[in-house]
Amino acid sequence: MSKSIYVLNGPNLNLLGKREPGIYGGQTLDDIKASCIAHGEKLGFTVDFRQTNHEGVLVDWLHEAGEKALGVAINPGAYGHTSIALHDAIRGIGIPVIELHLSNIHAREEFRHKTMTSAVCKGVICGFGPVSYTLALDALAHVTR
Ligand code: DQA
Repeated sequence: MSKSIYVLNGPNLNLLGKREPGIYGGQTLDDIKASCIAHGEKLGFTVDFRQTNHEGVLVDWLHEAGEKALGVAINPGAYGHTSIALHDAIRGIGIPVIELHLSNIHAREEFRHKTMTSAVCKGVICGFGPVSYTLALDALAHVTR
């Protein structure tokens, strides 16, 4: 297997930069993509970075990662709180998945405190803004070596 990892992003993350900057900061998803690719290179990973607003597409990409990648870092956005389909996909693919969030979901509205996905992920990182992404890559390096 090549040293490819997938970094998957769910709904509304394409709006980063203009979306609630007080919560999510001023970086765009393209900025985050660039730092993931650069950080991944240092760790010896080829980063495949994607975003979709569609739940089923995330499921398809998780399945694809299960065939092609060493591991996945996923910011599932709001689908993390609701999606049994993502829970099942993460469970089914047999490679390590790290869940991440820019914001500290436990310090926000109560409906963000629970996720459907965390329990089937290897671990969860939240609350560090864009650094949550590079920390998730570090975590993947840790669990895939
Ligand atoms: C988020 C947190 C979720 O609760 C929210 O629905 C998002 C972004 C984050 O990165 O902090 O879309 O996943």
